[in-house]
Amino acid sequence: MELTPGRVAVVTGAASGIGLAMARRFAADGLKVVLADVEEGALEDAAAGLRKDGADVHACVVDVADRAQVEALATETYERYGAVHVLCNNAGVGSGAEGRMWEHDPNDWKWAFAVNVWGVFHGVQAFVPRMIAGGEPGHVVNTSSGDGGIAPLPTASVYAVTKAAVVTMTESLYAHLKAEGARVGASVLFPGPHMLRTGLWESHRNRPARYAKQKPRKTPYRSLGQWEAAMKEAGQEVRFTPVEDVADLVAEGIRAGRFWLLPESEHSDRQIRARSQSMLDRADPSYLEHFILD
Ligand SMILES: NC(=O)c1ccc[n+]([C@@H]2O[C@H](COP(=O)([O-])OP(=O)(O)OC[C@H]3O[C@@H](n4cnc5c(N)ncnc54)[C@H](O)[C@@H]3O)[C@@H](O)[C@H]2O)c1
Repeated sequence: MELTPGRVAVVTGAASGIGLAMARRFAADGLKVVLADVEEGALEDAAAGLRKDGADVHACVVDVADRAQVEALATETYERYGAVHVLCNNAGVGSGAEGRMWEHDPNDWKWAFAVNVWGVFHGVQAFVPRMIAGGEPGHVVNTSSGDGGIAPLPTASVYAVTKAAVVTMTESLYAHLKAEGARVGASVLFPGPHMLRTGLWESHRNRPARYAKQKPRKTPYRSLGQWEAAMKEAGQEVRFTPVEDVADLVAEGIRAGRFWLLPESEHSDRQIRARSQSMLDRADPSYLEHFILD
């Protein structure tokens, strides 16, 4: 699908990181952009920054975990712009779960699923019927992660489970759109291939009271800066992918109608092969041993 100036993009989780980079990229291509995010102050700053650059943007405070709020976002967007061509279901959080799965706080699971899985489903349900009915070309991009989308990092297993769900949801969506003969395509995004300098490590800043932790954390949250410093001290170099590269991959992928928005990476390819081979061989998932860090 062409990203023609004047077309409309909706991005959730647009106040920060990858979502903000995608919004900037669409605006630079001349699209009207609806920025949706739960963090009001950051959202206002993001929208002001884009407006200063001359973009036509509309900001909406939305909790994607809340179906009614996502429905209201769709209604507001259609009332204002009359169409949606690109929908990026991108809002996501790290769960903050600690320890072994059987020790996890159930609210870590509920919160991560509410945002990372239900949030994407709410976006699909609120927007896709209207996008199909509009009859114009459209595209849905759902943000997954190599963690779970390819293979789980056992130390971040809740997050991984939600991101595996996003891949399967998007594969199913793709098939349903094809079966319908819709002019709307679907892609799944794996940001990377390296680490990203975003607010994901501070996801707890947006954790709502209804999913508050019931078991207090044993260790304080670690910031990306602290982790980076620890890696440096251990002599390990950390590589980062600029968020702008992720946004470029998304824009090119939409234009090319590509399903897998998976950046070239030997590491990812090795993981994919190892996992597939283990399944084909009916062998134990020994590839997970490489990721066990504690
Ligand atoms: N940073 C990484 O290394 C990485 C890697 C792979 C995938 N991802 C995924 O990329 C996406 C964007 O994350 P990011 O890294 O830019 O982090 P980020 O924290 O910088 O951005 C996420 C945005 O989502 C918003 N958000 C959180 N809960 C929300 C809710 N309930 N409703 C609406 N908005 C909400 C936050 O306020 C924030 O602005 C997420 O889905 C994340 O899982 C990130």
